[in-house]
Amino acid sequence: MSLSPRRTLVTGGTVVSTTGATAMDVLVEGERIAALLAPGAGAGFTVDTTIDASGTYVLPGGVDVHTHMQLPFGGTEASDTFETGTRAAVWGGTTTIVDFAVQRTGEVVQESLAAWHEKAAGNCAVDYGFHMILGGVDDEALKAMDHLAEHEGISSFKLFMAYKGVFLSDDGQILRAMQQASSNGSTIMMHAENGSAIDVLVSQALARGDVDPVHHGLTRPAALEGEATNRAIALAEVAGDTPLYIVHVSASQALERIAEARSRGRNVFAETCPQYLYLTLEDHLAAPGFDGAKYVFSTPLRSKHENHARDLWKGLRTDDLAVVSTDHCPFCLKDQKELGRGNFAMIPNGVGGVEHRLDLVHQGVVDGQLSLQRWVETCATTPARMFGMYPQKGVIAPGSDADIVLYDPVATTRISAATHHMAVDYSAFEGFELTGGVRTVLSRGTVVLDRGVYTGRPGHGRFVRRGPSQYLR
Ligand code: URP
Ligand code: ZN
Ligand code: ZN
Repeated sequence: MSLSPRRTLVTGGTVVSTTGATAMDVLVEGERIAALLAPGAGAGFTVDTTIDASGTYVLPGGVDVHTHMQLPFGGTEASDTFETGTRAAVWGGTTTIVDFAVQRTGEVVQESLAAWHEKAAGNCAVDYGFHMILGGVDDEALKAMDHLAEHEGISSFKLFMAYKGVFLSDDGQILRAMQQASSNGSTIMMHAENGSAIDVLVSQALARGDVDPVHHGLTRPAALEGEATNRAIALAEVAGDTPLYIVHVSASQALERIAEARSRGRNVFAETCPQYLYLTLEDHLAAPGFDGAKYVFSTPLRSKHENHARDLWKGLRTDDLAVVSTDHCPFCLKDQKELGRGNFAMIPNGVGGVEHRLDLVHQGVVDGQLSLQRWVETCATTPARMFGMYPQKGVIAPGSDADIVLYDPVATTRISAATHHMAVDYSAFEGFELTGGVRTVLSRGTVVLDRGVYTGRPGHGRFVRRGPSQYLR
């Protein structure tokens, strides 16, 4: 019996990295990439399996650093479990997720983290890490940040400037958490919306009888995303240039503040999500009847008359937006979004998208918005570097995990709730017809999807311990 690791050869494809696209063979031994070889040179090796990658791009597996599997939120729970959500991720070529464990006021951070490990362990089809949401910044939580960064492989903490009574931290709490992050080398992720001002606008809208989903967007104006982003940047500067990562940027005003801070050399980074690149307040959130509830998430969709999406694509080109994540947080229309029929403020905030990120951003390549290299950079390499997982993840290189996607650039992908694999009863991108599609996915050397046949399993995915950001300036 041979004890040597299983060998797989991926041959005939074009390996795409942040620096180029080159015809190469990829040799996999066990769970890792062993070598990149000149085209055809792989034929000289004895292998167990050969995968014909002709006609495909060979990419590092997608890294989605913003998901919320089974998140308790808005009086219900996100409808994808770690099992269903990571299976859907595979279908979309994502082989690593970083989900958010949640600590609420009064909870012990380590206990909250343990609860999230329990939800995920043995259920994930792909590798996963955790950021920690701090909903109650106090002395204990601040101490716990050091412990998590040093001992638990959790090097990023999300704070909220909105959702009073649920997650909101005031400026003093934010400053203290940023000071702690500065000293322990972790990153602060910020949900940047001015929650107090939004709460006033929401109360006023409801008092007027403006209860439809569109008012979710109208009561969260872009200026309040810009203001909160600016405040977060100022607080991070005062705390000692704490690495700051602004999540789910949707407004040009926020992007301007980020770009300005970056032009001053600050450790300020940001992501956007496909929903903000393709969907608008008028065409989606303002859909007739209760249909707009499908598009209730925060930050909200923006007006198509203000060109936010144009600016976001530009931000992705200039690296003022470094990452595309999904903020995957699905709630079914039936029984979940419906909680807010007659009161938009009761609609659970969130949307599903973990399955479609690579395709939707690749469409940006097809449309001339992004280069092929930048697609790989924003969807795999930079997220891995940003959150301390590189070069284990995010790159096809000897020694890296063999997380590999074969992507057919001329396939057609049609998005529909009837065919998607996420556990949610609608798709925000229903009817989208995209050029390109995932053909084959390997997770740590194992084929988990091939030409429409899923061969993954819950429990294959392992927890990824992360270090400090590798993207600092
Ligand atoms: O609406 C959203 N984004 N729901 C998920 C929680 C968050 O703020 O990221
Ligand atoms: Zn958020
Ligand atoms: Zn989120």
